[in-house]
Amino acid sequence: MNVSIFGLGYVGAVSLACLAREGHKVIGVDVDNGKLGLISEGKTPVVEEGMVELMAMVVASGNVRVTSNAGEALMGSDVSLLCVGTPSAANGSQDQTAVLRLSEQLGRAMRDKATPHTFAYRSTLVPGTVEDVLVPILERESGKKEGRDFYVCFQPEFLREGSSIRDYDHPPFTIVGTNHDECARVLRQIFGHLPCDFHVTSVRAAEMVKYCCNNFHALKITFANETARLCEGLGVDPFEVMELVCRDTQLNISNAYLKPGFAFGGSCLPKDLRATMYLAKQKDVELPMHAGILASNRVHLEHAIAKVLGTSKRRVGLIGLAFKSGTDDLRESPMVYLAEHLIGKGLSLLVYDPEVHLSSLIGANRRFIETHVPHIGGLIRSDLAAVVAESDVLVLGLSDMKTVEALRGCVRPGQILIDLVNVGERTALPGRYIGLTW
Ligand SMILES: NC(=O)c1ccc[n+]([C@@H]2O[C@H](COP(=O)([O-])OP(=O)(O)OC[C@H]3O[C@@H](n4cnc5c(N)ncnc54)[C@H](O)[C@@H]3O)[C@@H](O)[C@H]2O)c1
Repeated sequence: MNVSIFGLGYVGAVSLACLAREGHKVIGVDVDNGKLGLISEGKTPVVEEGMVELMAMVVASGNVRVTSNAGEALMGSDVSLLCVGTPSAANGSQDQTAVLRLSEQLGRAMRDKATPHTFAYRSTLVPGTVEDVLVPILERESGKKEGRDFYVCFQPEFLREGSSIRDYDHPPFTIVGTNHDECARVLRQIFGHLPCDFHVTSVRAAEMVKYCCNNFHALKITFANETARLCEGLGVDPFEVMELVCRDTQLNISNAYLKPGFAFGGSCLPKDLRATMYLAKQKDVELPMHAGILASNRVHLEHAIAKVLGTSKRRVGLIGLAFKSGTDDLRESPMVYLAEHLIGKGLSLLVYDPEVHLSSLIGANRRFIETHVPHIGGLIRSDLAAVVAESDVLVLGLSDMKTVEALRGCVRPGQILIDLVNVGERTALPGRYIGLTW
Protein backbone atom coordinates (compact mmCIF):
# COMPACT_ATOMS: atom_id res chain seq x y z
CA MET A 1 0.00 0.00 0.00
CA ASN A 2 1.15 3.60 -0.54
CA VAL A 3 1.34 5.21 2.89
CA SER A 4 2.42 8.74 3.84
CA ILE A 5 3.56 9.46 7.39
CA PHE A 6 3.55 13.03 8.73
CA GLY A 7 5.83 13.70 11.69
CA LEU A 8 8.96 11.53 11.92
CA GLY A 9 9.54 11.53 15.68
CA TYR A 10 9.34 8.38 17.80
CA VAL A 11 5.94 7.30 16.55
CA GLY A 12 6.33 8.35 12.92
CA ALA A 13 9.89 7.09 12.37
CA VAL A 14 9.21 3.69 13.94
CA SER A 15 5.95 3.35 11.98
CA LEU A 16 7.75 4.30 8.76
CA ALA A 17 10.44 1.69 9.30
CA CYS A 18 8.04 -1.08 10.33
CA LEU A 19 5.58 -0.43 7.51
CA ALA A 20 8.38 -0.35 4.93
CA ARG A 21 9.73 -3.62 6.39
CA GLU A 22 6.29 -5.13 5.73
CA GLY A 23 6.51 -4.17 2.06
CA HIS A 24 4.47 -0.95 2.00
CA LYS A 25 5.73 2.01 -0.02
CA VAL A 26 6.17 4.72 2.59
CA ILE A 27 6.67 8.46 2.15
CA GLY A 28 7.87 10.24 5.30
CA VAL A 29 7.21 13.94 5.83
CA ASP A 30 8.66 16.27 8.46
CA VAL A 31 9.33 19.97 8.82
CA ASP A 32 12.75 19.12 10.26
CA ASN A 33 15.19 18.80 7.36
CA GLY A 34 17.77 17.24 9.68
CA LYS A 35 15.46 14.25 10.24
CA LEU A 36 14.71 13.96 6.52
CA GLY A 37 18.45 14.01 5.76
CA LEU A 38 19.18 11.25 8.26
CA ILE A 39 16.44 8.97 6.96
CA SER A 40 17.41 9.48 3.32
CA GLU A 41 20.90 8.30 4.31
CA GLY A 42 19.41 5.21 5.94
CA LYS A 43 19.97 6.53 9.48
CA THR A 44 17.45 6.71 12.29
CA PRO A 45 16.32 10.09 13.67
CA VAL A 46 15.38 8.50 17.03
CA VAL A 47 17.38 6.36 19.44
CA GLU A 48 15.47 3.10 19.67
CA GLU A 49 16.60 -0.50 19.99
CA GLY A 50 16.79 -2.09 16.53
CA MET A 51 16.15 1.12 14.60
CA VAL A 52 19.73 1.54 13.26
CA GLU A 53 19.63 -1.80 11.45
CA LEU A 54 15.96 -1.57 10.47
CA MET A 55 16.20 1.93 8.99
CA ALA A 56 19.33 1.02 7.00
CA MET A 57 17.56 -2.06 5.64
CA VAL A 58 14.25 -0.43 4.65
CA VAL A 59 15.89 2.60 3.02
CA ALA A 60 18.15 0.28 1.02
CA SER A 61 15.07 -1.71 -0.03
CA GLY A 62 13.71 1.32 -1.87
CA ASN A 63 10.42 1.27 0.07
CA VAL A 64 11.12 4.59 1.82
CA ARG A 65 11.12 8.11 0.47
CA VAL A 66 11.15 11.38 2.42
CA THR A 67 10.05 14.88 1.57
CA SER A 68 9.19 18.15 3.24
CA ASN A 69 6.38 18.68 0.74
CA ALA A 70 3.08 17.59 2.31
CA GLY A 71 1.13 17.93 -0.95
CA GLU A 72 3.53 15.69 -2.83
CA ALA A 73 3.24 13.02 -0.12
CA LEU A 74 -0.55 13.21 -0.13
CA MET A 75 -0.74 12.84 -3.90
CA GLY A 76 1.64 9.86 -3.83
CA SER A 77 -0.26 7.88 -1.19
CA ASP A 78 -3.70 6.37 -0.50
CA VAL A 79 -3.58 6.70 3.27
CA SER A 80 -1.83 9.13 5.61
CA LEU A 81 -0.80 8.51 9.21
CA LEU A 82 -0.52 11.78 11.12
CA CYS A 83 2.01 11.51 13.95
CA VAL A 84 3.05 15.08 14.75
CA GLY A 85 3.73 16.11 18.35
CA THR A 86 0.96 17.34 20.67
CA PRO A 87 2.91 18.60 23.71
CA SER A 88 1.62 20.44 26.79
CA ALA A 89 1.03 24.18 26.58
CA ALA A 90 2.13 26.30 29.55
CA ASN A 91 -1.38 26.15 31.06
CA GLY A 92 -1.58 22.36 30.78
CA SER A 93 -3.82 22.30 27.73
CA GLN A 94 -2.78 20.36 24.68
CA ASP A 95 -0.71 22.41 22.21
CA GLN A 96 -2.29 21.45 18.90
CA THR A 97 -0.38 23.95 16.76
CA ALA A 98 1.36 21.27 14.68
CA VAL A 99 -1.71 19.14 14.01
CA LEU A 100 -3.84 22.19 13.15
CA ARG A 101 -1.24 23.50 10.68
CA LEU A 102 -0.74 20.09 9.16
CA SER A 103 -4.49 19.60 8.71
CA GLU A 104 -4.75 22.96 6.94
CA GLN A 105 -1.88 21.99 4.62
CA LEU A 106 -3.37 18.59 3.87
CA GLY A 107 -6.84 20.07 3.30
CA ARG A 108 -5.43 22.48 0.73
CA ALA A 109 -3.43 19.71 -0.92
CA MET A 110 -6.58 17.60 -1.26
CA ARG A 111 -8.13 20.10 -3.66
CA ASP A 112 -5.95 18.62 -6.40
CA LYS A 113 -6.56 15.00 -5.51
CA ALA A 114 -9.20 13.19 -7.57
CA THR A 115 -9.34 9.91 -5.60
CA PRO A 116 -10.65 9.55 -2.02
CA HIS A 117 -7.94 9.68 0.63
CA THR A 118 -7.91 8.16 4.12
CA PHE A 119 -6.44 10.06 7.08
CA ALA A 120 -5.59 8.27 10.31
CA TYR A 121 -4.68 10.64 13.13
CA ARG A 122 -2.18 8.80 15.35
CA SER A 123 -1.12 11.74 17.56
CA THR A 124 -2.73 11.73 20.98
CA LEU A 125 -5.64 14.20 20.75
CA VAL A 126 -8.07 15.36 23.39
CA PRO A 127 -11.53 13.84 22.79
CA GLY A 128 -13.58 15.80 20.30
CA THR A 129 -10.58 17.20 18.40
CA VAL A 130 -10.93 15.06 15.29
CA GLU A 131 -14.66 15.52 14.72
CA ASP A 132 -15.08 19.06 16.03
CA VAL A 133 -11.83 20.68 14.90
CA LEU A 134 -9.79 18.69 12.37
CA VAL A 135 -12.51 17.37 10.05
CA PRO A 136 -13.99 20.89 9.68
CA ILE A 137 -10.50 22.21 8.82
CA LEU A 138 -9.96 19.49 6.21
CA GLU A 139 -13.41 20.16 4.71
CA ARG A 140 -12.98 23.93 4.73
CA GLU A 141 -9.53 23.88 3.14
CA SER A 142 -10.33 21.21 0.55
CA GLY A 143 -13.88 22.21 -0.31
CA LYS A 144 -14.67 18.49 -0.05
CA LYS A 145 -16.91 16.40 2.20
CA GLU A 146 -15.67 13.90 4.75
CA GLY A 147 -17.34 10.51 4.38
CA ARG A 148 -17.82 11.06 0.65
CA ASP A 149 -14.65 12.57 -0.85
CA PHE A 150 -12.22 11.55 1.89
CA TYR A 151 -12.25 9.60 5.16
CA VAL A 152 -10.93 10.42 8.61
CA CYS A 153 -10.34 8.19 11.61
CA PHE A 154 -8.43 8.20 14.88
CA GLN A 155 -6.14 5.32 15.71
CA PRO A 156 -4.35 5.72 19.04
CA GLU A 157 -0.73 4.66 19.20
CA PHE A 158 0.37 2.44 22.10
CA LEU A 159 4.08 1.98 21.51
CA ARG A 160 6.52 2.89 24.27
CA GLU A 161 9.88 4.55 23.79
CA GLY A 162 12.70 2.11 24.44
CA SER A 163 10.75 -0.89 23.14
CA SER A 164 8.90 0.70 20.27
CA ILE A 165 9.63 -1.83 17.49
CA ARG A 166 8.61 -4.69 19.78
CA ASP A 167 5.50 -2.76 20.84
CA TYR A 168 4.68 -1.97 17.20
CA ASP A 169 4.78 -5.71 16.43
CA HIS A 170 2.87 -6.72 19.58
CA PRO A 171 0.40 -3.96 20.51
CA PRO A 172 -2.15 -4.61 23.27
CA PHE A 173 -4.88 -4.02 20.66
CA THR A 174 -5.64 -2.01 17.57
CA ILE A 175 -8.38 0.56 18.01
CA VAL A 176 -9.88 2.50 15.16
CA GLY A 177 -12.34 5.27 15.91
CA THR A 178 -14.31 5.96 12.79
CA ASN A 179 -17.73 6.56 11.29
CA HIS A 180 -16.85 4.80 8.04
CA ASP A 181 -16.30 1.16 7.08
CA GLU A 182 -13.76 2.42 4.54
CA CYS A 183 -11.33 3.53 7.27
CA ALA A 184 -11.58 0.21 9.07
CA ARG A 185 -11.05 -1.61 5.78
CA VAL A 186 -7.91 0.39 4.91
CA LEU A 187 -6.41 0.13 8.39
CA ARG A 188 -7.11 -3.61 8.52
CA GLN A 189 -4.97 -3.90 5.39
CA ILE A 190 -2.12 -2.18 7.20
CA PHE A 191 -2.49 -3.41 10.79
CA GLY A 192 -4.92 -6.36 10.58
CA HIS A 193 -2.11 -8.95 10.60
CA LEU A 194 -0.83 -7.90 14.04
CA PRO A 195 -1.33 -10.50 16.79
CA CYS A 196 -4.01 -8.58 18.71
CA ASP A 197 -7.72 -7.77 18.62
CA PHE A 198 -8.90 -5.14 16.15
CA HIS A 199 -11.65 -2.95 17.62
CA VAL A 200 -13.72 -0.44 15.69
CA THR A 201 -15.42 2.22 17.80
CA SER A 202 -16.52 5.85 17.69
CA VAL A 203 -13.90 8.54 17.07
CA ARG A 204 -14.42 10.12 20.50
CA ALA A 205 -14.21 6.79 22.32
CA ALA A 206 -10.92 6.02 20.55
CA GLU A 207 -9.54 9.43 21.52
CA MET A 208 -10.64 8.85 25.12
CA VAL A 209 -9.23 5.31 25.30
CA LYS A 210 -5.74 6.67 24.65
CA TYR A 211 -6.00 9.13 27.55
CA CYS A 212 -7.60 6.51 29.77
CA CYS A 213 -4.76 4.05 29.09
CA ASN A 214 -2.03 6.60 29.81
CA ASN A 215 -3.80 7.86 32.94
CA PHE A 216 -4.27 4.28 34.14
CA HIS A 217 -0.58 3.54 33.62
CA ALA A 218 0.35 6.68 35.58
CA LEU A 219 -2.11 5.65 38.31
CA LYS A 220 -0.60 2.16 38.55
CA ILE A 221 2.93 3.53 38.87
CA THR A 222 1.82 6.02 41.52
CA PHE A 223 -0.11 3.35 43.43
CA ALA A 224 2.96 1.11 43.54
CA ASN A 225 5.19 4.02 44.57
CA GLU A 226 2.87 5.27 47.32
CA THR A 227 2.54 1.72 48.62
CA ALA A 228 6.33 1.47 48.59
CA ARG A 229 6.75 4.70 50.59
CA LEU A 230 4.31 3.44 53.21
CA CYS A 231 6.08 0.06 53.26
CA GLU A 232 9.38 1.88 53.79
CA GLY A 233 7.89 3.72 56.76
CA LEU A 234 6.72 0.39 58.19
CA GLY A 235 9.91 -1.57 57.48
CA VAL A 236 8.10 -3.89 55.07
CA ASP A 237 9.61 -5.02 51.76
CA PRO A 238 7.54 -3.17 49.08
CA PHE A 239 8.67 -5.49 46.30
CA GLU A 240 7.41 -8.52 48.15
CA VAL A 241 4.10 -6.79 48.88
CA MET A 242 3.51 -5.64 45.30
CA GLU A 243 4.65 -8.98 43.92
CA LEU A 244 2.03 -10.74 46.05
CA VAL A 245 -0.63 -8.14 45.23
CA CYS A 246 -0.04 -8.83 41.54
CA ARG A 247 -0.42 -12.58 42.06
CA ASP A 248 -4.14 -12.02 42.63
CA THR A 249 -5.48 -12.12 39.11
CA GLN A 250 -9.10 -12.40 40.29
CA LEU A 251 -9.60 -9.08 42.02
CA ASN A 252 -6.34 -7.14 41.57
CA ILE A 253 -4.84 -7.63 38.12
CA SER A 254 -8.14 -8.19 36.32
CA ASN A 255 -11.13 -6.27 35.06
CA ALA A 256 -12.78 -6.55 38.48
CA TYR A 257 -13.88 -3.14 39.84
CA LEU A 258 -13.12 -1.43 36.53
CA LYS A 259 -16.73 -0.99 35.47
CA PRO A 260 -18.31 2.39 36.12
CA GLY A 261 -21.14 2.33 38.63
CA PHE A 262 -22.07 3.90 41.94
CA ALA A 263 -19.74 4.95 44.74
CA PHE A 264 -18.05 2.23 46.80
CA GLY A 265 -19.00 1.61 50.40
CA GLY A 266 -19.46 -1.28 52.77
CA SER A 267 -17.73 -2.34 55.90
CA CYS A 268 -14.19 -2.64 54.49
CA LEU A 269 -12.99 -0.26 51.79
CA PRO A 270 -13.81 3.10 53.45
CA LYS A 271 -12.61 2.13 56.92
CA ASP A 272 -9.41 0.51 55.64
CA LEU A 273 -8.58 3.52 53.51
CA ARG A 274 -9.10 5.77 56.54
CA ALA A 275 -6.84 3.54 58.65
CA THR A 276 -4.19 3.58 55.89
CA MET A 277 -4.26 7.37 55.86
CA TYR A 278 -3.96 7.52 59.65
CA LEU A 279 -1.05 5.11 59.60
CA ALA A 280 0.69 7.18 56.91
CA LYS A 281 0.24 10.30 59.00
CA GLN A 282 1.79 8.57 62.01
CA LYS A 283 4.76 7.56 59.88
CA ASP A 284 5.09 10.99 58.23
CA VAL A 285 4.44 9.49 54.81
CA GLU A 286 2.53 11.55 52.27
CA LEU A 287 0.06 9.60 50.13
CA PRO A 288 -1.79 12.18 47.99
CA MET A 289 -3.22 9.63 45.58
CA HIS A 290 -4.64 7.46 48.36
CA ALA A 291 -5.93 10.59 50.07
CA GLY A 292 -7.86 11.46 46.94
CA ILE A 293 -9.79 8.19 46.81
CA LEU A 294 -12.36 8.89 49.52
CA ALA A 295 -12.69 12.49 48.33
CA SER A 296 -13.41 11.27 44.81
CA ASN A 297 -15.91 8.72 46.11
CA ARG A 298 -17.75 11.54 47.86
CA VAL A 299 -17.85 13.56 44.63
CA HIS A 300 -19.40 10.53 42.93
CA LEU A 301 -22.09 10.39 45.60
CA GLU A 302 -22.74 14.11 45.16
CA HIS A 303 -23.04 13.52 41.43
CA ALA A 304 -25.87 11.05 42.09
CA ILE A 305 -27.57 13.50 44.45
CA ALA A 306 -27.37 16.18 41.76
CA LYS A 307 -28.91 13.80 39.21
CA VAL A 308 -31.89 13.16 41.46
CA LEU A 309 -32.35 16.84 42.34
CA GLY A 310 -31.92 17.70 38.64
CA THR A 311 -35.17 15.92 37.82
CA SER A 312 -37.07 18.48 40.00
CA LYS A 313 -39.33 15.63 41.16
CA ARG A 314 -40.25 15.37 44.81
CA ARG A 315 -41.29 11.72 45.22
CA VAL A 316 -38.28 9.39 45.01
CA GLY A 317 -38.17 5.61 45.26
CA LEU A 318 -34.82 4.05 46.15
CA ILE A 319 -34.50 0.52 44.81
CA GLY A 320 -31.64 -0.94 46.81
CA LEU A 321 -30.27 0.21 50.15
CA ALA A 322 -27.44 -2.18 51.00
CA PHE A 323 -23.92 -1.34 49.81
CA LYS A 324 -24.21 -3.98 47.09
CA SER A 325 -26.73 -6.47 45.74
CA GLY A 326 -27.27 -9.74 47.53
CA THR A 327 -26.42 -8.50 51.03
CA ASP A 328 -28.27 -6.69 53.79
CA ASP A 329 -25.11 -4.90 54.95
CA LEU A 330 -25.93 -1.21 55.26
CA ARG A 331 -22.66 -0.09 56.84
CA GLU A 332 -21.29 2.87 54.88
CA SER A 333 -23.65 2.04 52.03
CA PRO A 334 -23.64 4.92 49.54
CA MET A 335 -27.37 4.28 49.09
CA VAL A 336 -27.88 5.07 52.78
CA TYR A 337 -25.91 8.30 52.36
CA LEU A 338 -27.96 9.10 49.29
CA ALA A 339 -31.18 8.55 51.28
CA GLU A 340 -29.85 10.75 54.06
CA HIS A 341 -29.11 13.61 51.66
CA LEU A 342 -32.40 13.37 49.81
CA ILE A 343 -34.36 13.39 53.08
CA GLY A 344 -32.28 16.39 54.12
CA LYS A 345 -33.30 18.16 50.94
CA GLY A 346 -36.93 17.64 51.88
CA LEU A 347 -37.76 15.04 49.25
CA SER A 348 -40.30 12.37 50.00
CA LEU A 349 -38.60 8.99 49.98
CA LEU A 350 -39.60 5.35 49.87
CA VAL A 351 -37.15 2.46 49.90
CA TYR A 352 -37.23 -1.11 48.64
CA ASP A 353 -34.45 -3.66 49.03
CA PRO A 354 -35.24 -7.38 48.79
CA GLU A 355 -32.54 -8.22 51.34
CA VAL A 356 -33.08 -5.47 53.90
CA HIS A 357 -35.70 -5.99 56.60
CA LEU A 358 -35.11 -3.55 59.41
CA SER A 359 -36.61 -5.88 62.01
CA SER A 360 -33.95 -8.49 61.33
CA LEU A 361 -30.93 -6.16 61.25
CA ILE A 362 -28.52 -6.76 64.11
CA GLY A 363 -25.19 -5.63 65.53
CA ALA A 364 -23.01 -3.04 63.78
CA ASN A 365 -25.32 -3.04 60.79
CA ARG A 366 -28.29 -1.97 62.96
CA ARG A 367 -26.20 0.56 64.86
CA PHE A 368 -25.09 2.13 61.58
CA ILE A 369 -28.64 2.65 60.36
CA GLU A 370 -29.78 3.92 63.77
CA THR A 371 -26.99 6.51 63.73
CA HIS A 372 -27.22 7.61 60.12
CA VAL A 373 -30.87 7.47 59.19
CA PRO A 374 -32.78 6.49 62.33
CA HIS A 375 -36.12 7.24 60.72
CA ILE A 376 -35.41 5.09 57.66
CA GLY A 377 -37.43 2.21 59.08
CA GLY A 378 -40.64 4.03 58.30
CA LEU A 379 -39.61 4.48 54.70
CA ILE A 380 -38.80 0.87 53.89
CA ARG A 381 -41.52 -1.04 52.03
CA SER A 382 -41.58 -4.74 51.37
CA ASP A 383 -43.78 -4.21 48.33
CA LEU A 384 -41.83 -3.06 45.27
CA ALA A 385 -44.99 -2.15 43.33
CA ALA A 386 -46.10 0.21 46.10
CA VAL A 387 -42.75 2.07 46.00
CA VAL A 388 -42.95 2.35 42.21
CA ALA A 389 -46.56 3.54 42.28
CA GLU A 390 -45.86 6.28 44.82
CA SER A 391 -42.66 7.61 43.18
CA ASP A 392 -42.02 9.97 40.30
CA VAL A 393 -38.35 9.00 40.12
CA LEU A 394 -36.85 5.59 40.79
CA VAL A 395 -33.18 5.38 41.74
CA LEU A 396 -31.80 1.96 40.83
CA GLY A 397 -28.97 1.03 43.15
CA LEU A 398 -28.94 -2.76 42.80
CA SER A 399 -28.26 -5.05 39.91
CA ASP A 400 -30.20 -8.04 41.25
CA MET A 401 -32.00 -9.23 38.12
CA LYS A 402 -34.95 -10.70 40.04
CA THR A 403 -35.83 -7.24 41.32
CA VAL A 404 -35.20 -5.71 37.91
CA GLU A 405 -37.55 -8.26 36.32
CA ALA A 406 -40.17 -7.47 38.97
CA LEU A 407 -39.78 -3.80 38.07
CA ARG A 408 -40.73 -4.58 34.49
CA GLY A 409 -44.25 -5.29 35.63
CA CYS A 410 -44.76 -2.06 37.56
CA VAL A 411 -42.66 0.77 36.07
CA ARG A 412 -44.85 3.28 34.25
CA PRO A 413 -43.92 4.14 30.67
CA GLY A 414 -41.80 7.28 30.81
CA GLN A 415 -41.23 7.08 34.57
CA ILE A 416 -37.75 8.43 35.34
CA LEU A 417 -35.18 5.75 36.23
CA ILE A 418 -31.86 7.00 37.57
CA ASP A 419 -29.61 4.07 36.89
CA LEU A 420 -26.68 4.09 39.32
CA VAL A 421 -25.46 0.59 38.53
CA ASN A 422 -26.09 0.29 34.79
CA VAL A 423 -29.13 -1.95 35.09
CA GLY A 424 -30.26 -0.42 31.80
CA GLU A 425 -27.62 -2.17 29.77
CA ARG A 426 -29.15 -5.56 30.58
CA THR A 427 -32.83 -4.80 30.44
CA ALA A 428 -35.40 -2.69 28.68
CA LEU A 429 -37.70 -1.29 31.32
CA PRO A 430 -40.35 1.05 29.95
CA GLY A 431 -39.05 4.01 31.98
CA ARG A 432 -36.81 6.89 30.88
CA TYR A 433 -33.24 6.09 31.90
CA ILE A 434 -30.84 8.65 33.26
CA GLY A 435 -27.44 7.07 33.80
CA LEU A 436 -25.20 8.19 36.64
CA THR A 437 -22.29 8.82 34.30
CA TRP A 438 -23.94 9.29 30.94
N1 LIG B 1 6.59 8.96 22.04
C1 LIG B 1 5.78 7.97 22.39
O1 LIG B 1 6.17 6.99 22.99
C2 LIG B 1 4.32 8.04 22.03
C3 LIG B 1 3.52 6.91 22.19
C4 LIG B 1 2.18 6.97 21.83
C5 LIG B 1 1.65 8.15 21.34
N2 LIG B 1 2.44 9.24 21.20
C6 LIG B 1 1.84 10.45 20.63
O2 LIG B 1 2.21 10.50 19.26
C7 LIG B 1 2.45 11.85 18.86
C8 LIG B 1 3.87 11.99 18.35
O3 LIG B 1 4.76 11.71 19.39
P1 LIG B 1 6.33 11.64 19.16
O4 LIG B 1 6.94 11.29 20.46
O5 LIG B 1 6.62 10.78 17.97
O6 LIG B 1 6.62 13.19 18.80
P2 LIG B 1 7.99 13.87 18.41
O7 LIG B 1 8.01 15.20 19.02
O8 LIG B 1 9.14 12.92 18.66
O9 LIG B 1 7.88 14.02 16.82
C9 LIG B 1 6.93 14.84 16.20
C10 LIG B 1 7.47 15.19 14.82
O10 LIG B 1 6.49 15.94 14.13
C11 LIG B 1 7.19 16.86 13.30
N3 LIG B 1 6.26 17.87 12.82
C12 LIG B 1 5.75 18.96 13.46
N4 LIG B 1 4.95 19.66 12.64
C13 LIG B 1 4.91 18.99 11.46
C14 LIG B 1 4.24 19.21 10.23
N5 LIG B 1 3.43 20.23 10.04
N6 LIG B 1 4.44 18.32 9.24
C15 LIG B 1 5.25 17.27 9.40
N7 LIG B 1 5.92 17.02 10.56
C16 LIG B 1 5.75 17.87 11.56
C17 LIG B 1 8.30 17.37 14.22
O11 LIG B 1 9.33 18.02 13.49
C18 LIG B 1 8.73 16.07 14.86
O12 LIG B 1 9.77 15.43 14.14
C19 LIG B 1 2.14 12.71 20.09
O13 LIG B 1 0.80 13.12 20.02
C20 LIG B 1 2.33 11.75 21.24
O14 LIG B 1 1.56 12.13 22.37
C21 LIG B 1 3.76 9.22 21.52
